[in-house]
Amino acid sequence: MLNNKTILITGASGFVGSWLADEAIKAGYKIIGIDIHGPLRPQIWSGFATASCETVDLEDLLQGITLDAVCHLAGGASVASSVSNPYGDFSSLLPGTARLSLFLARHQPRARFLLFSSAAVYGNPQTLPIYETTPVNPISPYGIHKAVAEMLLSHYSRIYGLDITIFRIFSVYGPGLRKQLIWDVGQKALTAAANGQDHISLFGTGKESRDFIYIKDLCRAVLTVIASTSFVSGVEIYNLASGTERTITDVASCLIDKLGVKIKLEFNGEVPKGDPVNWRADITRLEQLGYTSDYSLELAMEEIATWMKEIT
Ligand SMILES: NC(=O)c1ccc[n+]([C@@H]2O[C@H](COP(=O)([O-])OP(=O)(O)OC[C@H]3O[C@@H](n4cnc5c(N)ncnc54)[C@H](O)[C@@H]3O)[C@@H](O)[C@H]2O)c1
Repeated sequence: MLNNKTILITGASGFVGSWLADEAIKAGYKIIGIDIHGPLRPQIWSGFATASCETVDLEDLLQGITLDAVCHLAGGASVASSVSNPYGDFSSLLPGTARLSLFLARHQPRARFLLFSSAAVYGNPQTLPIYETTPVNPISPYGIHKAVAEMLLSHYSRIYGLDITIFRIFSVYGPGLRKQLIWDVGQKALTAAANGQDHISLFGTGKESRDFIYIKDLCRAVLTVIASTSFVSGVEIYNLASGTERTITDVASCLIDKLGVKIKLEFNGEVPKGDPVNWRADITRLEQLGYTSDYSLELAMEEIATWMKEIT
């Protein structure tokens, strides 16, 4: 059922953007998108600009529509790419963030601006769990640029009165994500099994840990925050995570088990530059809005294994 509210999603054709669009439609929102790549399913969008946030004609796209929320996902989404091309990462995030937020301040001051930031802003914290109040101390260009975007929006909020929500997203995974650990493990394991090999090799020691959140849980968390009436004004920050720490060995083994292949894991001991060692988030703030996770790692991995086997 329509709720007469409209969300603008930037980075709309990416992994999270595509899922969020589907879940927002199911929750009754109208959606408008921006992405340098065209939409995967054009029919679900009430408006779409295939353009960058730096150049898009926002007045032409919005046609006088009042926005309730802007989910700003556009930008680089890879620590490794930010290490090899830091200025590329900077350019894909910061000019568009400034332009979009300044447009909102002037033309749509009641729209809430939700920045999809990252746990990378925390770097390697001294203690776990990581609270939203844990000091920001990024160790990669990607984390630095997200931290700068957060600071920029916080100051704009102060002088222009914008309402800002910052999501510090931990490790998101789900069907459709063709990058990062879970995709790599799945591809390597299925290829090794098809070639009669009995092991695969991964970066690190296997003891590094992350806080993984399944994409369907993440979208529900985002929509819970958007629908929440607890927000007054100014800037609020939420960790988006499961609140559970899992080692890389644990996660990779779980997927291999669900894929139904007999493959052993080997680790090369090298930790990629810019990668933190251990992460576990405190998600009390999110839970206080009534959010609870629907998916354990095991349940989510079953869906991922099914998807990976379908596309292989
Ligand atoms: N996937 C994760 O684990 C994760 C974790 C933390 C934070 N995030 C953040 O969530 C957001 C979405 O991540 P994702 O995994 O869907 O990434 P993605 O790369 O799949 O999607 C990003 C989309 O943004 C578009 N884009 C990039 N720069 C743009 C620009 N300047 N103007 C318009 N479009 C632009 C790209 O074309 C792409 O479709 C990113 O901001 C990312 O930093 C993701």
